[in-house]
Amino acid sequence: MSTIPEFDVDIFSDEVLRDPFPTYARMRELGPVVRLTANGVLAVARYADVRAVLIDHTRFISGKGVGFNNQFNEVRRHSVIASDPPRHEMLRGVLQDRLGPRSIRNVEQIIRPRAQSLVDEMTRRGSFDAVTDFSQVFPLEVVGELIGLPVDARSELLRWASGAFNAFGPPGDRTSAGLADIAEQFEYIRNVATRDQLAPGSMGAAVYEAADAGVIPEEYCLHLLSAYLTAGMDTTVNALGAMVWLLGTHPEQWHELRGLPHRVNAVVNEVLRIEAPAQLFSRVAAVDAEVSGIEIAAGERVAVIYGSGNRDERQYPEPDKFDIHRNAAGHLTFGTGLHACAGQVLARIELQAVLESMIERVEAITIGEPIRKLNNVLRGFRSVPATFTPASVKNSVFSGESA
Ligand code: HEM
Repeated sequence: MSTIPEFDVDIFSDEVLRDPFPTYARMRELGPVVRLTANGVLAVARYADVRAVLIDHTRFISGKGVGFNNQFNEVRRHSVIASDPPRHEMLRGVLQDRLGPRSIRNVEQIIRPRAQSLVDEMTRRGSFDAVTDFSQVFPLEVVGELIGLPVDARSELLRWASGAFNAFGPPGDRTSAGLADIAEQFEYIRNVATRDQLAPGSMGAAVYEAADAGVIPEEYCLHLLSAYLTAGMDTTVNALGAMVWLLGTHPEQWHELRGLPHRVNAVVNEVLRIEAPAQLFSRVAAVDAEVSGIEIAAGERVAVIYGSGNRDERQYPEPDKFDIHRNAAGHLTFGTGLHACAGQVLARIELQAVLESMIERVEAITIGEPIRKLNNVLRGFRSVPATFTPASVKNSVFSGESA
């Protein structure tokens, strides 16, 4: 029987969260499956193995939770992300109806002008914080409106979303604080995001309509609204922050990209690959299973590290290099298989709209000293001081506007 190499680094320590990539590289070197002794779980860190586990949803299940502590997995047991078929189909169907490409296409017309005015405002200001003034504003506004939330009650949503991702972690202070944030988010949904307060026709209202039509039991409404409020906000915030940071710290590539606007989708993929906003979740082996010839016993929890698969040298040459010419379309940032991100079309539209607006309107990006935010699952910044120098001639390739 194959043995699983042990690795005694706590992947949720501050030190690793600050820069997890050297640790991931050591894990990938050790083998396809590694036992994280400090965290009491197995892990897959190579691209092919992350993919293999995600695709095999009958042997590597989500129904025992995808977090790393029992309390969280219990609190979240009704959520879409922690469900297996057939319950998963029932819940995902409600989200998919509103987040699928057909429904979301109309949203593009709302998002694009907002992205343009946000970028305009930042160029007018000159210096701003690419996280608090820029990245946080956009998803909060866009997703808040799509869910149909009352405008004056949105201020705590990002804090709760960030906390909800911390709550996936192993027992500890960061995780406990995250569990308290989830409790507050649930209170908000029970008191504010109610049937009568959500905008008619919104994604949020559609959740209650699904319950009224008997498509889902009533108790799942809370968890579907929580899925929107958690998954749809801080993930995209971190992706936007990473995008400004990466482009600002690679001025020669920014300059080149302004002349290659057709590469917008490819560059969004490269940003998502190298700085995956959600670094990992987990699965539990439902039966004795095998990954790249390594046996995994039934009942083992396996950390599935998207952020490491994306930096696997077996898949991407020079994986730590940000490269606007790379084809990173196969990255694992949205997961894959049954639980692949339900909101990825929306997230891509948001990122593309912002990048297109930047290409049109921003000549140069200057970045100050960034501050990382440490989160058990999310990778992102607390603050990125930035300056946008307005383009003297507007690059009007996307809008068709005259320069
Ligand atoms: C850049 C932004 C985003 C990233 C990096 C991201 C990442 C992910 C990942 C990795 C998963 C897979 C979880 C698993 O394998 O267990 C996922 C699932 C999910 N995401 Fe996203 N996400 C983003 C944006 C969004 C948005 C905007 C929404 C909705 C408004 C959303 C809603 C969901 C939902 C509902 C699931 C659960 C799907 C299921 O279990 O079937 N996400 N996301």
